[in-house]
Amino acid sequence: MARLLQLTDLHVMAPGSLCSGVLDTGAILRAGVDRILAQMPAIGPLDGVLVTGDISEDGSVESYDLARRELARFGLPVYAVPGNHDSRSAFRAAFGGQDWMPASGLVDWVVDLPDTRLIGLDTLVEGRGAGRVQPVSLEFLNHALQGADGRALVVALHHPPLRTGIRFMDNIALENIKDLAAAIPANCQPVTFVAGHVHGVYLGRIGAHRVVTAPSLCSAFALDRRADAPVGFLTGPTGYALLDTGPDDSWTAQPLFMGDGPFDF
Ligand SMILES: [Fe+2]
Repeated sequence: MARLLQLTDLHVMAPGSLCSGVLDTGAILRAGVDRILAQMPAIGPLDGVLVTGDISEDGSVESYDLARRELARFGLPVYAVPGNHDSRSAFRAAFGGQDWMPASGLVDWVVDLPDTRLIGLDTLVEGRGAGRVQPVSLEFLNHALQGADGRALVVALHHPPLRTGIRFMDNIALENIKDLAAAIPANCQPVTFVAGHVHGVYLGRIGAHRVVTAPSLCSAFALDRRADAPVGFLTGPTGYALLDTGPDDSWTAQPLFMGDGPFDF
């Protein structure tokens, strides 16, 4: 079994700049890491931190430096895939020292953890909000799923293969969900796809396989399916997720800030 902390959509800016002129996402990340570290005795031991994209908002080297420093405070291996706000070259430079980072090309990778195969897929199309799984990544996924040798299977990607009904997000969703579905071998054991991008908790399916999205660490999008829904973000609820693999597998999204208590029943 492997247990991972999933963080997503950090949207860190170069120090001194606010995300969308509103959010100090560097400070939000620092406070979020503080908060989760304080929870660690309750959460229990972890095998790593998985970041499902949009680490940076502005693609700056400084934003990645800040994010990497904060993530290092967990003292755990960090695995990451890029999101639509990331710059692939700056992302690559920031995580270049990691075993899983390919030397060139797309940021597709596979890591074998205890009884678990964790696969990262790059859905970033630079200059666009929407995501695509490129043919080379589809082939990579197909091979990685076939060679898993009975391990639990987790695929991490930024753009989830689902629609939320929020129009401004569905307009920049994963474009080729059918291609992704077709890349999963027909006889594949259950795969859990974990994603971000939609700044909220959604459960979907791709074929027989489940898809979950974690809350963003810095902002949220209201579930408003009207055609004239306001386009923009909310400052919360924010959160993170915990993934357990194996026979008793589970995934839970947790808010960063809980209410008061506990009070006696
Ligand atoms: Fe995002």
